[in-house]
Amino acid sequence: MGLIENILKRKSPDELLAVSKKSELKKTLNVFDLMIIGIGAVVGTGIFTIIGSAIKGGLEGSGAGPAVIISMILAAVACVFSALCYSEIAAMMPVAGSAYTYTYATMGEFMAWMVGWILMLEYAIGNITVASAWTGYFVQFLKGFKAILPDFVVNFPLWLRNDYRTILTMCDQNGLNPHDFMPYLFDKVPMAINLPAIFIVLVLTLLLIKGVKESTRVATIMVGVNMFMIISFIIVGAFYVKPENWTPFAPNGFEGIFMGAFLIFFAYIGFDAISTCAEETENPQRDLPIGILGTLVFCTILYVFVALVLTGIVPLQSINTSAPIAAAMQFIGKDWFAGVISTGALCALTSVLLIYQLGTTRILYAMSRDRFLPKSVRVIHRKFRTPHVLTWIAAIIVIVGSLFMDLNISAELCNFGTFTSFIIICIAVLILRKNEPNRERPFKVPFCPWFPILGILTCGGLMVYSMKFLKTSSVYFPLWLLIGVAIYAAYGYKQKRLEEQGKKHS
Ligand code: ALA
Repeated sequence: MGLIENILKRKSPDELLAVSKKSELKKTLNVFDLMIIGIGAVVGTGIFTIIGSAIKGGLEGSGAGPAVIISMILAAVACVFSALCYSEIAAMMPVAGSAYTYTYATMGEFMAWMVGWILMLEYAIGNITVASAWTGYFVQFLKGFKAILPDFVVNFPLWLRNDYRTILTMCDQNGLNPHDFMPYLFDKVPMAINLPAIFIVLVLTLLLIKGVKESTRVATIMVGVNMFMIISFIIVGAFYVKPENWTPFAPNGFEGIFMGAFLIFFAYIGFDAISTCAEETENPQRDLPIGILGTLVFCTILYVFVALVLTGIVPLQSINTSAPIAAAMQFIGKDWFAGVISTGALCALTSVLLIYQLGTTRILYAMSRDRFLPKSVRVIHRKFRTPHVLTWIAAIIVIVGSLFMDLNISAELCNFGTFTSFIIICIAVLILRKNEPNRERPFKVPFCPWFPILGILTCGGLMVYSMKFLKTSSVYFPLWLLIGVAIYAAYGYKQKRLEEQGKKHS
């Protein structure tokens, strides 16, 4: 077979379904577990941390102000079209691997590899953001106990809780000498290591290896605690809302609203993680669409209320960008409640971390099953029946990444990657409707082809618009794509051919 035939070679949906039927993964998840995975993956850094920058603006873009609720609805609309497309394909082909697997069935080998590579931006790089935010709230949480904890625990050194870039930026902005804040190896290499982030990733890795059911049980508790905290924030905060804080409603006009939508999109990412667990779902045809759409609708309503209360109690110039929800409670003099909110935030971030690590592993599992990665990484743990080697690989990616990347850049890269995978899913639905018109579809996207086309336009529009302002990540993103192409050309393509030949001779 020639080069072009090889890179366009698709997997038939029947082949995918046959593999999934033989799957060694345990089928234990029901619709409740799926919604927990969904809410657990969605509610996190976006609503607890990034909402501050979406309202107030950051270094490279202006904020939406109270009009962040319009940004939220805009981001939710972009997600709904893709969520419908995810539901149609996930119910049709309940196979592990999410967008990666669906691309293999529609656009062939090369695009599948690229989507797998892009999904690593969403899951693994996205988790670097979440792990950094986790450390931020953990430090906040320790401060709540400063009366009983020794000072060296509450105020442990900056270089043990940050990446070196964050410390360099902080010193740069405040005219300080970085040598005073972190040790230098041979007087040249700055040393900084985000210990709390590494610790939590290691704990969650052990939990994931123990089993997916055990992991969702922990996620259930975390989701319960964080929902309770967010709903109490809405109820308590509602009594302190001053409607005059809502004017001016959109201080930076459409530019602010669109940039806000791009940033707050991070708060919605995660509902697609549900489809990565398709092979472990008891009744995927019925439960996957309910889980995906239910999660999205629930989170949108919750977010709009949080934004209304937050912008209603804190004037725009006083919005905090590192822990806005907890700081809002301090603003109205409820310090103890700010501590309670930090606990909720820690639970939310922990569940996002857990589910994203699960997602990374399942995508890598699907890619290795398709022989893009060496066979040795695919082994399933004898006792726990989970892919333990890949779970460790996913952990190492986040740990190493957290040494070099800061929170904002990793969040923007994650958004670029996710928008791209959503666009590809919408295209996949259009292709499958044409190529496989008669295949059974337990769930169908309404108003096809218009809804998938609107999904492509809304996601693409937000992505292209934000590239005008985000100078750093809009250079890193194409660079990431080029590295993906290079790895496929130098390794992935040959590895596949070798494995195929091996199969023919055996
Ligand atoms: N939506 C997830 C969060 O906000 C990624 O943390």
